[in-house]
Amino acid sequence: MEDLFRFADEFGPAKIVHIHEPTAGLKAIVVIDNVAAGPGIGGVRLAPDVSVEEAFRLARAMTMKSAAAGLPHGGAKAVIFGDPNMPLSDKERLMHAFGRAIRDLRDYIPGPDMGTNEQCMAWVKDETGRAIGLPAASGGIPLDEIGATAWGVVAAAEVAGRYRQLDLAGARVAIQGYGSVGKHSARFLSERGAKIVGVADISGALHDPDGIDVAGLTAHVEAGGLVGEFANGALLDRDEVVAIPCDILIPAARPDVITAANVDRVDTKLVIEGANIPVSDEAETALHRRGVITVPDFIANAGGLICGAAELCGSTPEEALDIIERKVRENTEVVLEHSHESGVTPRRAALDIAEGRVRAAMEAQR
Ligand code: PHE
Repeated sequence: MEDLFRFADEFGPAKIVHIHEPTAGLKAIVVIDNVAAGPGIGGVRLAPDVSVEEAFRLARAMTMKSAAAGLPHGGAKAVIFGDPNMPLSDKERLMHAFGRAIRDLRDYIPGPDMGTNEQCMAWVKDETGRAIGLPAASGGIPLDEIGATAWGVVAAAEVAGRYRQLDLAGARVAIQGYGSVGKHSARFLSERGAKIVGVADISGALHDPDGIDVAGLTAHVEAGGLVGEFANGALLDRDEVVAIPCDILIPAARPDVITAANVDRVDTKLVIEGANIPVSDEAETALHRRGVITVPDFIANAGGLICGAAELCGSTPEEALDIIERKVRENTEVVLEHSHESGVTPRRAALDIAEGRVRAAMEAQR
């Protein structure tokens, strides 16, 4: 018999909910991982192919992200099965149906994630009365529009760079994924004088050692274009982006893109995890042995979550960006210092801190 509790450990998950509304064409999974510190915040991912296991791993990453950022929240994640590029009217219906289905899951606060955006959150909130990452017109901080997650990714890169005598100015950067994390990271980093030498999305990877025209590429992608159609630099197979020689590699797309199978080809000084769970444990350990610094997802990409939590407290976008920069910087420093002194991987160092906080919150509850 299938073991339904195969993910259960000392932290969670508290609930795994399968949702099926045939008339609305809605199939979804919600994982509420740990809510000891407060309601679980988690993105709503719209994708054709996400497993329960992946949803659980993403929810767990949110638990650790909240704890590391010291927020009064736990972790969760929702996955809706579907094509992220479906017509907008279909998306609106699906989001409303999803909102109705999670109305009574009160310990889950939804936010945007891959395939969903501020507008989707407004539709969800219509039904639930709760959602974060809302459009500015609905009283939210539009975190994808301002690049909240990328703002933190850049702060993490700057701090990690100090451990390798690497300045952002002049650094060569490769970015996998050109959604709200990837494109804003490219923008902020090129504003700081870095050179974006590689960019990839599902259509392919661009490689230009002289630097890609970031503003041009972003305009092309925002107009609905794909990276692979942008005639600038050499076009490689999309998965080749991880092997582009660079100083900073930023995975900012799907899970499990750097694994034991390709980690040997990674040619960089820093890996800053803009995506959630993009690098396997085995690959992180291999990178660590080689002297490549990896800033783990729940430290490096906490900007979106911190922004969402700031929104709930009524902060302005400017205040939210300041908090993101301060928290991500401080966390990256603490984690890399701990890793440097004790020799453990940065993820182990980060987990030591975050797990300790979750345990303390669980202890306080009893
Ligand atoms: N996509 C975000 C993440 O993975 C989830 C999120 C969205 C969190 C909005 C908070 C606010 O971190």
